Amino acid sequence: MTTAYAPGKVILFGEHAVVYGRPAIAVPVTQVRACAVVEDAPSGQGSVIHATDLNLHHHVGTPLTADDPAYPLEATVRHTLEWLGIENMPDLTLTVSSTVPIARGLGSGAAIATAIVRALAQHLGRSPTSREVSNLVYQTEVIHHGTPSGIDNTVVALEQPVYFVKGEPVQILRLEQPFWVVVGDTGIASPTKIVVGDVRRGWQKDRDRYEALFDHIAAIVLRAREAMVAGDTTRLGSLMDENQGLLDALAVSSPELERLISAAREAGAMGAKLCGAGRGGNMIALATPQKAQDIAASLREAGAVNVIISEVKPSQPV
Ligand code: MEV
Repeated sequence: MTTAYAPGKVILFGEHAVVYGRPAIAVPVTQVRACAVVEDAPSGQGSVIHATDLNLHHHVGTPLTADDPAYPLEATVRHTLEWLGIENMPDLTLTVSSTVPIARGLGSGAAIATAIVRALAQHLGRSPTSREVSNLVYQTEVIHHGTPSGIDNTVVALEQPVYFVKGEPVQILRLEQPFWVVVGDTGIASPTKIVVGDVRRGWQKDRDRYEALFDHIAAIVLRAREAMVAGDTTRLGSLMDENQGLLDALAVSSPELERLISAAREAGAMGAKLCGAGRGGNMIALATPQKAQDIAASLREAGAVNVIISEVKPSQPV
């Protein structure tokens, strides 16, 4: 039996603009995680996937439509076997579970796919590097999101704070000191594919305005990278607020997100913004360790259905 885990993630700066070639910064969130367990099965069974949270049981090879929840799971299995050079479906049972909430900007699809790739590859005798895992998971991200930038699979597979530009080698951020974020969930599911599609339609209608917003976000990300590496949390907080203003201008915020963002700021957050695709899902607030609990309490009072306090740690060698 082989078990593998993968964390969730939050995007600290640069979501949406990253789809258009601008940089973004993301960090792993280890308080939530996906788990995949692979076990040998009796000869002739083939490969069977159980996703316990979704009450899903699927025999790989049974016909599927692209909107079936088993579709990305089967695709991940197939891509991994292809990468391993295995042509015949092995006799295996794969059980997947996850505490990463679905469609809330925390990278649930990338986390599940990462856990599957790792567990399956290890069970079949290979240990892919984090970058190899990330490349495989990207293929599943295309199914989930249509035109993903690749940041989710990168940060989840590397489990490190990353500075990411689509198509360029990822940079792992060497942080001077840890910092704390409080993540608040609006409780509203918001599939990334839909929001990314809406932004694309806006961009197609008014390219100049959208390109200018993306450039402004890119400038914030560059300043945020410096502030993060230097441990300047005051500057980082105000850059988060500035990034939130631009996300609002892209029409991806929502009244529920704004309510949580205001509550966090009033409770002493150094800055706050939505994280991920927006319209629902989660927001993040930058906190001192002393203020984190107060901010979490205010978020719950303001309607957050779940709150995570997470320490963003200096990176480890990969
Ligand atoms: C989703 O976590 C982040 C987006 O920027 C989409 C992407 O990068 O693929 C909204």
